[in-house]
Amino acid sequence: MKIAFVGKGGSGKTTLSSLFIRLLAARRAPVVAVDADINQHLGAALGLTDEESAELPAMGAQLPLIKDYLRGSNPRIGSAQDMIKTTPPGSGSRLLRIDESNPVYDACARSVPLEGGDIRLMATGPFTDSDLGVACYHSKTGAVELCLNHLVDGRDEFVVVDMTAGSDSFASGMFTRFDMTFLVAEPTRKGVSVYRQYKEYARDFGVPLRVVGNKVQSPDDLDFLREEVGDDLLVTVGHSDWVRAMEKGRPKPFGELEEVNRNALDTLHSTADGAYEQRDWERYTRQMVHFHLRNAESWGNERTGIDLAAQVDPGFVLSERTAPQPA
Ligand SMILES: Nc1ncnc2c1ncn2[C@@H]1O[C@H](COP(=O)(O)OP(=O)(O)OP(=O)(O)O)[C@@H](O)[C@H]1O
Ligand SMILES: [Mg+2]
Repeated sequence: MKIAFVGKGGSGKTTLSSLFIRLLAARRAPVVAVDADINQHLGAALGLTDEESAELPAMGAQLPLIKDYLRGSNPRIGSAQDMIKTTPPGSGSRLLRIDESNPVYDACARSVPLEGGDIRLMATGPFTDSDLGVACYHSKTGAVELCLNHLVDGRDEFVVVDMTAGSDSFASGMFTRFDMTFLVAEPTRKGVSVYRQYKEYARDFGVPLRVVGNKVQSPDDLDFLREEVGDDLLVTVGHSDWVRAMEKGRPKPFGELEEVNRNALDTLHSTADGAYEQRDWERYTRQMVHFHLRNAESWGNERTGIDLAAQVDPGFVLSERTAPQPA
């Protein structure tokens, strides 16, 4: 299943996604972790050294390879150059699985030992001004989006994306790609305003969204979030000495994470599980096509000089029954 952590800058997206990934790793669930945040810190939060983090390949730089692989022999896509970030899979496309080897992972993913298991980590690469707020052909998150749109994932395996709640994810439709979106919010007006904006988009597309309160220190903090967010508030996390120790470069074993925070992670896991039950592959495919047509019309057709609507395979539904091609 696909899980996103979004929220205001500094709210704790990276911290909470890394803790959730650790929980999954400790439970031996296959995980592909994706750092699509403006500040690329997920690697560090998963215990990589600065040097190791800096050596992570940037997915943005691998777009040609990713497109070429995913296109496969899909006759509706003339060439990899004709693919934009919203180009949907169709008959002949290559699909990705979470727990497999494939050229996309070979080029973009690194294996990270974590809590006695191994997870895969991929990163968009650092953002520049030109990547932000634009519905652009070359946008960094485009590589992530193409992968999500070509991914066939099952119940007990996870893609966890640490990402910004930016306007490009609304324009491209990336925000509709997840079984569950955890919006991390501090008990502040700014934290909550990001929630309100996200909620509006989410409502229009039936996107499952729950709020994770972070740095919640007092009953007053909790009251504030309850009032502002209502039933969307799933769980709250307080100040964590475990997280602070990690920040000091003195990491402690995961087993020593505060029990209350460990329980919060449990809630995230069970909520994600529940959300997967609601997965509707037809709707998922339909939304993918909807956003592709919208992007084609607003900039893609002009940019590529072709009618991108012709890339849509009307009979195709992405699902676990869609047999993946051998890598
Ligand atoms: N529950 C917590 N307890 C203690 N420290 C925390 C907690 N949550 C987050 N922090 C600290 O707050 C800072 C910001 O957290 P984090 O980097 O996870 O936020 P972010 O939303 O990913 O930020 P950015 O927008 O910069 O990517 C970090 O120094 C982190 O260690
Ligand atoms: Mg971050």
